Amino acid sequence: MDFNRKNTVLITASRGLVPYLSREVEQLGYEVASTHATGLEITASLNDTMRLNLRLRTAFNVLYLLKTFECDGPDELYRNIFSIAWEEIAGPDEYVSVVSRIEHSSINNTMFANQKAKDAIVDKIHQEKGARPDSGPERTNIVIHLYWKNDRAWVYLNTSGQKLADRSYRKIPCAAPLQETLAAGILFASGYDGNTPLVVPMCGSGTLAIEAALIALGRAPGLLRSNFGIIHVKGFDKNFWQEIRRETLKSAYKNLSAPIIATDIDRKAIEAAKKNARTAGCDHLIEFKVCDFTDTPLPENPGILIFNPPYGERLGELNWLEKLYKAIGDFLKTKCTGYTGYIFTGNRELSKAVGLRTSRKVPFYNGDIECRLLQYKMYSGSVKKKYRSGPEDLT
Ligand SMILES: C[S@@+](CC[C@H](N)C(=O)[O-])C[C@H]1O[C@@H](n2cnc3c(N)ncnc32)[C@H](O)[C@@H]1O
Repeated sequence: MDFNRKNTVLITASRGLVPYLSREVEQLGYEVASTHATGLEITASLNDTMRLNLRLRTAFNVLYLLKTFECDGPDELYRNIFSIAWEEIAGPDEYVSVVSRIEHSSINNTMFANQKAKDAIVDKIHQEKGARPDSGPERTNIVIHLYWKNDRAWVYLNTSGQKLADRSYRKIPCAAPLQETLAAGILFASGYDGNTPLVVPMCGSGTLAIEAALIALGRAPGLLRSNFGIIHVKGFDKNFWQEIRRETLKSAYKNLSAPIIATDIDRKAIEAAKKNARTAGCDHLIEFKVCDFTDTPLPENPGILIFNPPYGERLGELNWLEKLYKAIGDFLKTKCTGYTGYIFTGNRELSKAVGLRTSRKVPFYNGDIECRLLQYKMYSGSVKKKYRSGPEDLT
């Protein structure tokens, strides 16, 4: 395959993360052609997708468009997919998986369309090369995305393979861990850039603290992973890939310019967070402590504080959670002067218990749960007066 040929590249993300993804993509020098709720489009080559896969923090998948066509039924689907030069993309020794999303009135079984697409791919390789590649659900090798909506279909090569949220450092998750891409989005929304102290009480398995360390060091999250869909594509140049990885690594810092502190009341959570941070290569840069959040050490030079407290789905939890949220509000008010505090929660009722006025509310989704990142500016006396006279960012 021609790795220099530019075509439409669809970069997907969870709902709520697209504004941050847009900024990341633009910072890497690409012009965003269009955005929608769960992704954006740019024009790029397969070589470009290597850099995107390594560097993007909020993206899910980087999909390179192979073909789009009018499609009104399974036979048309088969014919059009068969017409793609699959023998130039995958050899008979590879393993192919197809992921499909179908919104078409005549197709009520996605698996049927999926099978049709898979047949077209392996039949074409068989016709051209005399042997069929294996196929199945594992997204470990060549991954193809089919999106079929009404009378149009799009076929993409998924250059990421497994979703980019799987950084591979979280060997031990705790209860309700944040997805890595969401944690990166929360940090971007908080304005964290590594130059001010970051405090993460209730850190759980450490996702926010680890993603913060990677941002602060300018370390590309994709460097932690060795397998991507793109490396299995015919024409992949291993030397070029190694060169990009080396170049990406070279641009990273070795040390933080401001501390990152992560605490949790649960000893097991801190042990897991330390192990995960070690896998990510940043355990020596994060200060971990087992303690109640009220005993979290706070650097004198104020920075950003991010809470991701439990937000409880079971009945009976609400009462103690209300107390917990109120205690977080009291802690911010009495101990965190000068800090910008954030609470990430999926429960609006609980957020009322905090008892502080929010200066910003940023919408996010954690899976299907609508969440908010609530900002609290803990001004010291003199600034408080200014704030009272004319806040501009109150919502
Ligand atoms: C939703 S989890 C955080 C998940 C984390 N963001 C992650 O990605 O793994 C909430 C955490 O709050 C901690 N926690 C609950 N009450 C606490 C308290 N009073 N002080 C400190 N930590 C507490 C729990 O042990 C749990 O690890």
